[in-house]
Amino acid sequence: MTTTDSTAKISVRDIRKTFELKGEEFVAIERVNLDIADNEFVTVVGPSGCGKSTLMNILAGLEAPTAGQALVDGKPVAGPGPDRGVIFQQYALFPWLTVRKNVEFGLKVAGLPKAERREKADYFIRMVGLEQFADALPKMLSGGMKQRCAIARAYAVNPSILLMDEPFGALDALTRVKLQEQLLGTWSREKRTVMFITHDVDEAVFLANRVVVMAARPGRIYDVIDVDLPYPRTEEVRLSPEFRDLRNRVWHAVYHQEPGVVAGSASH
Ligand SMILES: Nc1ncnc2c1ncn2[C@@H]1O[C@H](COP(=O)(O)OP(=O)(O)O)[C@@H](O)[C@H]1O
Ligand SMILES: [Mg+2]
Repeated sequence: MTTTDSTAKISVRDIRKTFELKGEEFVAIERVNLDIADNEFVTVVGPSGCGKSTLMNILAGLEAPTAGQALVDGKPVAGPGPDRGVIFQQYALFPWLTVRKNVEFGLKVAGLPKAERREKADYFIRMVGLEQFADALPKMLSGGMKQRCAIARAYAVNPSILLMDEPFGALDALTRVKLQEQLLGTWSREKRTVMFITHDVDEAVFLANRVVVMAARPGRIYDVIDVDLPYPRTEEVRLSPEFRDLRNRVWHAVYHQEPGVVAGSASH
């Protein structure tokens, strides 16, 4: 997409990011243009090394683009901020803090009084179904429960944007499916703008309003596919012919990429 919309929640404008590798310039991503609307759920899928994490880190403010601009609410991203919650594959919960204390952590940093912290934390702990584990330490939780705790923790500080980098990547297939449904349940109750990175085509389609397919060498946006499937995304939706068709389309875009294609770049 080359269109830029001034009302977009997130706007990525002609971003290029290079790294120096053995004295040579290595292009991680280039010509990346993307607008994400408020409360939209966008997934990003593509082969390993195509620059998914690089794009997300730029939006998170953890890295600066070499050229181009990332805008949030029309303002250039200058660094990390409380408006963006970030969740990684291996989310580092504080191992010495209970689930509740982990979720309260950001609220404590923000200076919220104790009672309010507790109330907010308990609300989000309930939302991710961990109320029976509120006093447990992370080591007592399964991988899926740890990620639910990470999601509650990200939500608690009330960011308007959630940036998730393969958050379910380390989990088994069944746990993944459950967490996908739960994440959508959470999102339907507490709408946020979400960018969710995955290398799993089914997951990309199941969650999204739109799937961004990236290609490698150089990293770029290859295609953007609208997912016109109804929410809630039930098992029925997952097993529908419409889902299968979209999944096949995204699969094809990921695994049969033609060299040189850049989405929406007829003018390039
Ligand atoms: N800090 C860095 N220094 C050098 N190269 C990097 C750095 N970060 C990422 N890269 C390279 O940029 C490319 C894109 O990486 P990344 O964004 O992690 O891809 P993905 O998340 O899609 O697997 C890869 O080839 C990777 O090796
Ligand atoms: Mg990555």
